[in-house]
Amino acid sequence: MDQKKLREFLNDMSLDEKIGQMVQVLCLFHEKEGVITGPENTAGYTEEEIRNAGSVLGSCGAAMLRRVQDNYMKNQPHHIPLLFMADIINGYRTVFPIPLAQGCTFNPELVQKAAAVAAKESAAAGLHLTFSPMVDLVRDARWGRVMESTGEDTYLNQCMAKAMVEGYQGTGSLTDKGKIAACVKHFAGYGAPTAGRDYNTVELSERTLRDNYLPPYKAALDAGCATVMSSFNTLDRIPSAANKKLLREILRSEMGFDGVVISDWGALDELIMHGIAKDREEAAGLAAEAGVDIDMMTTCYSRHIKKQALDNQKYLELIDEAAFRILQLKNKLGLFENPYKDADEAEEAEIILCSEHRNEAKEAAIESMVLLKNDNILPLKKNGQKIAFIGPHVNSRLIYGAWSIFARPEDTVTLMEGVNSLGIKEAVFANGCAMVDSIDATEINNTKIDPEVHEKLRKEALDYALNADVVVLALGEHPLQTGEAASRAELDIPKPQLELFRQVYEVNKNIAVVLFSGRPLEIKEISDKAKAVLEVWMPGTEGGNAIAEVLFGDAVPSGKLAMSMPYCVGQVPVFYSEFHTGRPYAGSEGKGRYFSRYLDIPNKPLYPFGYGLSYTDFEISKVRLSSNELTKESSLEASVTIKNIGSFTGKEVVQLYIQDKFGSVVRPVRELKGFQKIELKPGEEKEIVFSITEEMLRFYDINMNYVSEPGEFNVYIGNSSDTQNGKSFVLI
Ligand code: BGC
Repeated sequence: MDQKKLREFLNDMSLDEKIGQMVQVLCLFHEKEGVITGPENTAGYTEEEIRNAGSVLGSCGAAMLRRVQDNYMKNQPHHIPLLFMADIINGYRTVFPIPLAQGCTFNPELVQKAAAVAAKESAAAGLHLTFSPMVDLVRDARWGRVMESTGEDTYLNQCMAKAMVEGYQGTGSLTDKGKIAACVKHFAGYGAPTAGRDYNTVELSERTLRDNYLPPYKAALDAGCATVMSSFNTLDRIPSAANKKLLREILRSEMGFDGVVISDWGALDELIMHGIAKDREEAAGLAAEAGVDIDMMTTCYSRHIKKQALDNQKYLELIDEAAFRILQLKNKLGLFENPYKDADEAEEAEIILCSEHRNEAKEAAIESMVLLKNDNILPLKKNGQKIAFIGPHVNSRLIYGAWSIFARPEDTVTLMEGVNSLGIKEAVFANGCAMVDSIDATEINNTKIDPEVHEKLRKEALDYALNADVVVLALGEHPLQTGEAASRAELDIPKPQLELFRQVYEVNKNIAVVLFSGRPLEIKEISDKAKAVLEVWMPGTEGGNAIAEVLFGDAVPSGKLAMSMPYCVGQVPVFYSEFHTGRPYAGSEGKGRYFSRYLDIPNKPLYPFGYGLSYTDFEISKVRLSSNELTKESSLEASVTIKNIGSFTGKEVVQLYIQDKFGSVVRPVRELKGFQKIELKPGEEKEIVFSITEEMLRFYDINMNYVSEPGEFNVYIGNSSDTQNGKSFVLI
C-alpha cells in the first residue's frame, strides 16, 4: 500500500482503533474462546482490550496463527491484520548455540546464517517479528542475561548485530519469503546493571555510553533493523520507557531511526514502581512523549492514553504518530496484502529441523566452543582408550539456553547420543550427581534428588572413573541458572558437581572437563586440576553431536572468548578494554602496595577476551606496517603472516587491537578494531592484512565531539586480547 493510502487509512480510523494498534498482548489470549480470566492475564485485560490490541506476542504455529488472524481481522473495523511477535533468540525449533557462544565464533557469516535459519523456520510457523538481536554490551558475568548478548566488546557486538539483522530480515524487502522483522534490544545500556543484579539501576557516563554501549544498537539500525525495544533500566536515573533524551534525541534524531519502538514487558507499569509516575495515566503520558509506540503487556495505553488525548491535543498527535509507524511496519511486512505472511503448514513440516538446518546448528556449535586448556589429552582416541563420561550434563537435553521457548527437549542430541553415534565402543556413561542442590533458586529445587539416589549415582560414577583411562566430566550450570532474572552472586559450578569433580580427581587425574554454561564461570580450581577444559556454553539442538566431534578430533575447536573468564567473582566486571589508571599495576614486575591492584588475586582474568586454543598451533609473525604515519585522508596497512605449525587443519582468529596512547580524555588500554578467521592446513601460511583508517580511531573527546586526535598509537595483532605483538604509528 502506498504512503498516501496508508495515511488515508489512518485518518479513517477511530481513536480507539489507533490506540489499539499501540497495545500488545499475549497471543495466548486469542487462542482460547471468550474472556481470558486465567492467571496468564496478569495485566487484567478486558475482552475488548484484547480484541483491539494490534499486535500479540509469544506464540507460533502456522495453522493456529492463521486461525487467530482470521478471527481478528473479521472483527477489526478496518480489517487491519494482527502483527505476530516472539522471542526467537538463537533459533526457533532448530536451536543454535546461545548468542554469547555465537559471539565466540568470531564468525559473522555463520551468525548471519543462524539468524536466517531461525527466520525461515519461524516465518513458516507464521511469525512476523523476532525480539532479537539483543546487543547489550555485557561485562559482568553475574548478570544472567549475558547469555543473550554476543559479549563484552563493542566492535564484536557491532559485527554480530549487523549479521543477525541481515540474517533475519535479509537485505531485500521484509515481504521476502522466509524473512522476519528484527527488533534490536534493549535500548539502552541494559547490560550494565549495578552489581550484576537484573533490572537494577544503570550508572554509565555519557561518554562510555556513547563510545562503547550505543554503537552495537546503531550497527543493527544501519543494517536496517525494523524495530527497537526500550530497556527496563534507568540511564541517568530515567527509565528508558520514559527517556525522551534517549528515545527521541539519541535514537530518532541522532541515529535517524523512524521505525517502531516497543516497550519491554510491563515496562510502562514499572514507571510507577520506579517512582517517576504516580499512576498509569501519568506513565502512559510519559511513555508516549518519550516515543514508545507499543505498550507491551500493560493497560497504560489501552485504558489511560485516551483521557490524556481528549484533554490535550498534543497526545492526539503522538497517538497518530505511533499508530502510523505501526501501520507502516505492517505494510513493510506486506500484511495488508498477505496477512498470514509465510505461515504454511506444509513448509513448516518440511523445513523445521531439516538436516540442512541441523547441520548448520552443528557447525555453529562446533565453532562456538572454546578450548581453554589442553595438556595433550584431547582429542580423545576412538579406539583403545577406556573413557568414562560422567556428570549431569552427559544426558541432559536442556542444553539450548533460557530463551529457546519453542525448543523441544526430544529434538536435542545429548552428549551421550553424540558419542554413541560416532560408534565409540569403549565408553561408559554416568550422571554422577544431581545438577544442583537446595541452595539454588526455588524454581530449580524440583531437580533435587534424594540422598540415597545421589549416593548410588556417585558410587557408579567413581567406579567408572577408577577403571577409565580418561574421564570426561560434563559439568556446568542448570539452564534455569542463566537468562532473565537469573543473576548470581557466586559464579561457581553448582556444589554437587564440584564435589563430584573433587571425588573423581581423587581416583583419576586424567580429566577433561566439558563445561556447559550461560556465562563465564569461576573455574580456577577446575582449570588448575583438569588436563583439559572445553567451554561449550549452551550449544543447542545439535550440541551432543558437535561436542562429540570436537572431543574425538573430527572437528577442531576454534572459538575465542567473547567475554573474559574471571579469576574469581570478586574481579567482575572484568574486561580487556579497561581504562588506564594513574597507578597501573604491571603484574609480577610491579612491586609494592599502592597500585590499582588486589592484594589477594591478580588483575588479569583467568582467560582473557579473544583467547581460545586449537588442536593445532599457529605462528604469527611480527606486525608489519605499510607506513608509520597515517593521515585523515590515507589508510595504512597492518599485516602479519600466520602459519599452521601443528598437525591438524584448523581455524584461527587473527585479531587487531589499537591503543591510543594519549587523549584529551582517558582512553582504553586497547580496543578490538578488526578480526579475520581463517582456515589453514598443516604447514600452510597466509598473509593477513588489516586496513587502518582515521575513522577507526574516533571517540568522544573532552568536548563530546566524535573525533580522532593526532598522536601516537600502538597496533597489536595476535590471537587473543593480551597479545604483545605490536608496532606503533602516528596520526598526523
Ligand atoms: C524481556 C525481553 C523479551 C520480552 C518479551 C521481557 O521480559 O526482557 O527481552 O523480548 O520479555 O518476551
